[in-house]
Amino acid sequence: MHILLIGANGRSAQAILPRLLEIKEVQLTLFLRRSERLQHLYNDRVRLVEGDANKVDDLVSALPGIDLVINTMGGMDLDRKTRNLVHAMENAQVQRLVALNAGGIYEELPEPFNSWDKSMVGFTRPVNLRSANVIEASSLDYTILRPVWLTDKPIEEFQLTQKGECFLGTETSRASLGRFIAILAKNPNLYSRCNLGISQSGTEGEMPAAYR
Ligand SMILES: NC(=O)c1ccc[n+]([C@@H]2O[C@H](COP(=O)([O-])OP(=O)(O)OC[C@H]3O[C@@H](n4cnc5c(N)ncnc54)[C@H](OP(=O)(O)O)[C@@H]3O)[C@@H](O)[C@H]2O)c1
Repeated sequence: MHILLIGANGRSAQAILPRLLEIKEVQLTLFLRRSERLQHLYNDRVRLVEGDANKVDDLVSALPGIDLVINTMGGMDLDRKTRNLVHAMENAQVQRLVALNAGGIYEELPEPFNSWDKSMVGFTRPVNLRSANVIEASSLDYTILRPVWLTDKPIEEFQLTQKGECFLGTETSRASLGRFIAILAKNPNLYSRCNLGISQSGTEGEMPAAYR
């Protein structure tokens, strides 16, 4: 199983990476801008590709031989980067994609958390929604993950909600993203063409603990 991890120097990617390497048969290609930042990770299972997801050709050149792509990028150009990625994957016939997005894009958070989240980061919802729409309209075997407020807590437990269900929880640990994505890497058919909310139980409330 050869995995392409996009946005590899990001905080979530850095939590996902060690969980992937626990799977013996995994080979990793780390895709990032300024690859010298992760040069110390290079070994016989980990290679680095320097690239910018705003450039389709950079993505195209990283895809040969890849079985699973994990996209951890965010940003106000996420829709454009996602279009590039979907286009490159469809052309390269790489089918399996796990993509981080964000809870709230369907107004699926319970009140009053939804209104609080919207007041804080509502400006990102349209671009994240467009990004999810592009993936859902593709021919790919995708799993979209909608975390809410990310934490660096070591907790790996998670709870999932399907698209259309009201969200649970106000926090998602990056460690739980790592745990869940490793489960998907081991079982590539699991949650294919699913769009999931992911969070920790016990974090329900008006806002994440750090803001209470
Ligand atoms: N923070 C939250 O509470 C929260 C909540 C819900 C959802 N999310 C979403 O969760 C995801 C991960 O969050 P995070 O905290 O891990 O983010 P992060 O640390 O900012 O990591 C994102 C990575 O994406 C990379 N990236 C962005 N544009 C790129 C491009 N054009 N080409 C290549 N790489 C690019 C960045 O690269 P550089 O290092 O080169 O800048 C960065 O390393 C994001 O999609 C975010 O929108 C975040």
